[in-house]
Amino acid sequence: MRFIDLFSGMGGFRLALEKNNLECVFSADNDKHACDTYNLNFSENSLFDIITIDENKIPDHDILCAGFPCQPFSIGGLRKGFDDIRGTLFFEIVRILNKKQPDIFILENVQGLINHNKGNTFKIILDTLASKLNGFNYHSSNNENLNYNVFWKILNTKDFNLPQNRSRVFIVGFKDPEVMFEFPEPLKRTLTLLDILDKQPIVKKISDQSFEYIQTFLKNHKHYDIINKLDYLIAYEIRKSRVAFRYDNNSPCLTTKMGTGGNNVPYLVKQNRFITLKEGLKLQGFPKNFKLTNNYSAALRQIGNSVSVKLVDQIIKSILK
Ligand SMILES: C[S@@+](CC[C@H](N)C(=O)[O-])C[C@H]1O[C@@H](n2cnc3c(N)ncnc32)[C@H](O)[C@@H]1O
Repeated sequence: MRFIDLFSGMGGFRLALEKNNLECVFSADNDKHACDTYNLNFSENSLFDIITIDENKIPDHDILCAGFPCQPFSIGGLRKGFDDIRGTLFFEIVRILNKKQPDIFILENVQGLINHNKGNTFKIILDTLASKLNGFNYHSSNNENLNYNVFWKILNTKDFNLPQNRSRVFIVGFKDPEVMFEFPEPLKRTLTLLDILDKQPIVKKISDQSFEYIQTFLKNHKHYDIINKLDYLIAYEIRKSRVAFRYDNNSPCLTTKMGTGGNNVPYLVKQNRFITLKEGLKLQGFPKNFKLTNNYSAALRQIGNSVSVKLVDQIIKSILK
């Protein structure tokens, strides 16, 4: 089976689908740094702006994958949705689906997409894609509906044996109206945050000021006596006004914001250091041999942007069953 990798980033979808013997026939992302990483790992130039791609030139494929940009939809983002130019990138996917009519699509976005604009944004998406939803006939108000048999679910990376709290909505569509798709069941947890820590980490120094913020908020934390003893205590979103802590042996959600600087990178309190790039890759389920370029900030941004490979691996296995 052949697939295309839209908004391909550093290739999370591609790794998972190739692992299941599917062949990538086209990829596109307009971020030069992400494409450098992609090229390093897959020897393919994916640097295209999807807006400028002629859908007639995209090779035929069975599966379309797209982790489309989430900023306009995310709770942390601007919440402008379809009014924002990036919001309209969803309609670039629609344009390609409409022309190429692949049997299957897999879309991924932040959980906030489903509640954005009081649920209207998600309704527009479903109205555009679905004539059946989660096994039932769906009455779409869009005359140009693409007639897919659509299933969606929020899945969390930490339920798929990766120690990261990352909730994402996955939308899977089938041309075949008879398919009754079931999303994968959670996997048994065998990996914790402590298990994935580097033995010889390359340490980035924290500023004195940020260190102070962490200490101040930690001492005032209502569970200070307990969490202060934990080896897997993580501080994140380190600000003067607030520092968040996570203490369930999972990392918090890795985000694009990590690329903007240290205070947005999760900080291991007991180990007295930020998580490393290698650990970020492990938290997203990338294999050991995955290569990054030398651009530290761009690599952090790409890791935060990526889809969790192990989760997509489970989804594609459920699709291929
Ligand atoms: C959420 S990330 C997807 C990451 C990818 N799934 C992965 O596993 O690395 C969204 C991607 O869309 C890309 N993007 C945004 N606007 C684009 C456009 N007009 N054309 C192509 N790619 C675009 C961004 O550069 C970013 O890499």
